[in-house]
Amino acid sequence: HSADAQRTDLMTITRHVLNEQSKHPEARGDFTILMSNLVLGCKFVCSAVNKAGLAKLIGLAGDTNVQGEEQKKLDVLSNEVFVKALTSSGRTCILVSEEDEEATFVDPSLRGRYCVVFDPLDGSSNIDCGVSIGTIFGIYMVRDKNEASLYDVLQPGNQMLAAGYCLYGSSCMLVLSTGSGVNGFTLDPSLGEFILTHPDIKIPKKGKIYSVNEGNAQNWDEPTSKYVENCKYPKDGSSPKSLRYVGSMVADVHRTLLYGGIFLYPADNKSPDGKLRVLYEVFPMSFLMEQAGGQAFTGKQRALDLVPTKIHQRSPIFLGSYDDVEEIKALYVKEA
Ligand code: AHG
Ligand code: MN
Ligand code: MN
Ligand code: MN
Repeated sequence: HSADAQRTDLMTITRHVLNEQSKHPEARGDFTILMSNLVLGCKFVCSAVNKAGLAKLIGLAGDTNVQGEEQKKLDVLSNEVFVKALTSSGRTCILVSEEDEEATFVDPSLRGRYCVVFDPLDGSSNIDCGVSIGTIFGIYMVRDKNEASLYDVLQPGNQMLAAGYCLYGSSCMLVLSTGSGVNGFTLDPSLGEFILTHPDIKIPKKGKIYSVNEGNAQNWDEPTSKYVENCKYPKDGSSPKSLRYVGSMVADVHRTLLYGGIFLYPADNKSPDGKLRVLYEVFPMSFLMEQAGGQAFTGKQRALDLVPTKIHQRSPIFLGSYDDVEEIKALYVKEA
């Protein structure tokens, strides 16, 4: 390819998803339509985030969600945009959002085959100070759209067809896997298109960064405490790891994916299941990590094998570079 050809041969996310679709002869284009609506939601949130300060989108919405968190205006706005975009696509059947206590069952006249679980705005505590935030999503196929039930979304992450996130940071990046690798697309605001900039992302086998909220250290269990101790005071003479913690899972996971290292949100004696939600935080990020050659562990099992029983269920999570996660697995296995 000459540089010119590359510049004019625009691989947009829509064209990429269509290419993926062509690998499935039975596909009818439903997934492509679903993705184009999801992408529209991300473009809307990206523009709302970029002008939040100007458009009075900062601050609280005056309500609390099922998590007991005070909802920010942007939490509510982005949730509404995604629910409407996904419902109107005519390709969805069940929606699970962090911001809605109950799952949304799409009206039968508008039902499609896909169930979407999503965190419309991840890292809400960072909105008002302009630090990167994101959107996270995972996609399941419904068994029978005429008999749709919660069972269709209380499935282990290993049943997900696709997962991804959008990072609203210095640039707007959408990272997606449909089960054959991970690709990163950057929004070109002048075109309003996500362009493929990071083809076939692979996470380094080992990293030099650990990412955890050290403020919870006094409540950690033994294996987590030992692991973090080893990051800071390595026994094997290697140099200590650096600590990087943004407090938005999307930002911390994106850095981990590109630079390598490990992201941890462990259990602690205050919250034995940790803080992060299985369906729309743990599963999508674990799916991406495995597709990029990394791994994801709950402290007890492979994260994607966990079978959720409630739509807002939480789980501890350790994910990132393959070798780094192996080390913490060894500490938990020993302790078991
Ligand atoms: P959300 O804003 O969608 O509720 O998610 C916040 C999560 C996640 O983004 C981040 O990794 C974690 O909360 C940070 O929690 P702590 O502030 O307890 O470290
Ligand atoms: Mn929240
Ligand atoms: Mn979140
Ligand atoms: Mn959220």
